[in-house]
Amino acid sequence: MLLFALFSLLPILASAVNITTYVDVQLAPAQLPPSAAAKNADAIVSAFANLSRNTKWNLVQNITLEGDIGEPEGMVRIGDDRIIIAWGDWIVPTKSYGKDVHGNSIIKDGTDRENGQGYAHLSIFDGTGKRLADTTLNELSDSEYHIGGIDYDGECLWTELSEYRPNSTATIIRVNPYTYQFDPVVHINDHSGGVLHDTKQNTITALNWGSRNATKYTLDSEDLWRAHESKIPNPSFFADYQDCKWLGYPSQFDGERSTALCAGVAAYSIKDSTVSLGGLAIIDVDTMVPLMEVPITLYTPIGTSMTQNPIDVDVVDGRMRLYFAPDQHNGTVYVYEAL
Ligand SMILES: *[C@@H]1O[C@H](CO)[C@@H](O)[C@H](O)[C@H]1NC(C)=O
Ligand SMILES: *[C@@H]1O[C@H](CO)[C@@H](O)[C@H](O)[C@H]1NC(C)=O
Ligand SMILES: *[C@@H]1O[C@H](CO)[C@@H](O)[C@H](O)[C@H]1NC(C)=O
Ligand SMILES: *[C@@H]1O[C@H](CO)[C@@H](O)[C@H](O)[C@H]1NC(C)=O
Ligand SMILES: *[C@@H]1O[C@H](CO)[C@@H](O)[C@H](O)[C@H]1NC(C)=O
Ligand SMILES: *[C@@H]1O[C@H](CO)[C@@H](O)[C@H](O)[C@H]1NC(C)=O
Repeated sequence: MLLFALFSLLPILASAVNITTYVDVQLAPAQLPPSAAAKNADAIVSAFANLSRNTKWNLVQNITLEGDIGEPEGMVRIGDDRIIIAWGDWIVPTKSYGKDVHGNSIIKDGTDRENGQGYAHLSIFDGTGKRLADTTLNELSDSEYHIGGIDYDGECLWTELSEYRPNSTATIIRVNPYTYQFDPVVHINDHSGGVLHDTKQNTITALNWGSRNATKYTLDSEDLWRAHESKIPNPSFFADYQDCKWLGYPSQFDGERSTALCAGVAAYSIKDSTVSLGGLAIIDVDTMVPLMEVPITLYTPIGTSMTQNPIDVDVVDGRMRLYFAPDQHNGTVYVYEAL
């Protein structure tokens, strides 16, 4: 009974966040807009159906982000004038346990490297890239310090703090978009690199290292800690998704499938070189089956694959817009439309 009472209280105890504000403005619009992805799901699916390997992508805008964004991991826009970037600042690098005499990775306690140390950040920019505020979400001594993909459901931001190594642990967190106070929602016995929130079923789906497995939790609105878990292996090896945006239940799938737009990259060894190939998919959240997918062979001027981590989507004047922010440290949001 005592344990039960303690767990019930946990979600109410929002963690204190270290927030630095640079401009005295509200960090989110007074009236929170719906997520662009879920609001425009039907239009996004229609536009996606027109994409192919030969699609010409038109760069319509570059937004230079003020200050350092370390290694960017996720992005979401709340309306046109707020861009949230999740990023990592690595203080102590992870270190591989090396290979054994057979060339296999040495595994200790189920994983292949020392965890390192760092800070998870969420930084808030306006639509022109001006930095409004920075937050750090952990102490340097915390083992879960790696932030990943972000989703926004029209009320809260959903993201995660993980150990920075495969087969480790993670905590999914729910973040208030005005104060950046956050609640731990679920603790996972696996690394999590991305998360999405299905507001209809009230489930969250967390993607592990390389998005090989999704772990789905059914949340209880009364008590977020009473969650039931199911594991869904990802059948697609085309690109390892990290940042996903929940699209809702598009009419093209008879309003019956929970879907998300996910993007990522995978490294392919081709002949003597390694190529980082990007990919974009609309997935069925409950089975992880890609319903539509296209490769993305766009790179930034410094050679980073556009779909390396942060992505968001919207529809403007009937055209699908994709927002990418892959470059480290000196960040740029690249806005593309399919021609
Ligand atoms: C798909 O392509 C067709 C033919 O180019 C075009 O008429 C239509 O507007 C496109 N649809 C979307 C949603 O972009
Ligand atoms: C984006 O930036 C690149 C490189 O600086 C530049 O060549 C291009 O014209 C810019 N595009 C737009 C639409 O601003
Ligand atoms: C993590 O666990 C999976 C499943 O057991 C295994 O295939 C993979 O090799 C492990 N990865 C590492 C780096 O330990
Ligand atoms: C608080 O955040 C600022 C700005 O991101 C950072 O420079 C500082 O190191 C953080 N302090 C702690 C204790 O994490
Ligand atoms: C995925 O989950 C299944 C079921 O728990 C597990 O057997 C498998 O090792 C996991 N694979 C990876 C790569 O995490
Ligand atoms: C970022 O931009 C600054 C100013 O232009 C430059 O000095 C610095 O080298 C750049 N950093 C990286 C990592 O490109």
